[in-house]
Amino acid sequence: MANKVVAIDGPSASGKSTVAKRVAAALGFLYVDSGALYRAVTWKALQEKVSTSDASRVSILLQNLAITFYEKEGIVCFKIDDRELKNEIRAIEVNENVSKIAAMPEVRSQVVVWLRDMVRFGDLVMEGRDIATAVFPNAEHKFYLDASEEERAKRRFQEIHDGAEKITFTDVNESLKRRDAIDKGRKMDPLRMANGAVKIDTTGMNIDQVVQFIVDRLKACVF
Ligand code: CDP
Repeated sequence: MANKVVAIDGPSASGKSTVAKRVAAALGFLYVDSGALYRAVTWKALQEKVSTSDASRVSILLQNLAITFYEKEGIVCFKIDDRELKNEIRAIEVNENVSKIAAMPEVRSQVVVWLRDMVRFGDLVMEGRDIATAVFPNAEHKFYLDASEEERAKRRFQEIHDGAEKITFTDVNESLKRRDAIDKGRKMDPLRMANGAVKIDTTGMNIDQVVQFIVDRLKACVF
């Protein structure tokens, strides 16, 4: 039988990552952070001084990218040039460029191939922007997480603040808005809720409540 996919989409700081990781652990599925791949391509372009506006150079970079996938502690991970990427893909410069790179059709087509291939590792909980609309439109279970703009900016500011980076609330808010606008406005597979997805407004909810809601719903279904 084919491996199963639970798709969790939504904008930045809607709570997707934490929720998806915990849902995966509760179900015994593997967790996939699709955004990490777009971030990794962006990081590599910045490293190689390839302009993040130059789609043909980014495309060449992609063709020559040495990427490998493996499973570790319930997560589908990857290495680039035999190196695991950690905080470097969360840097401000990556944040500011990732949506431009992710809007390039050449990049999206390649990342979608990588993501679809991950079912070979097992059942997946995959989070992103287009998982239920483009990557796995036939996923058994689709969720769309959202929260008010202010709530999302507060959450992201808190995360960054915990990491002690110097950035103001206004900067975080503006950066999220810029990214949302590109993600929702791009031509190929823009961020939107898939048909049949369950929408969860997480504004007044804590992580436990969102995880419980999803897990209860999934457990009520014949998997
Ligand atoms: O951490 P955050 O939720 O802010 O973003 P992320 O999930 O790490 O994704 C970073 C960026 O990658 C997004 O702003 C999108 O531009 C892009 N992305 C995408 O286009 N499609 C996906 N399935 C996942 C991410």
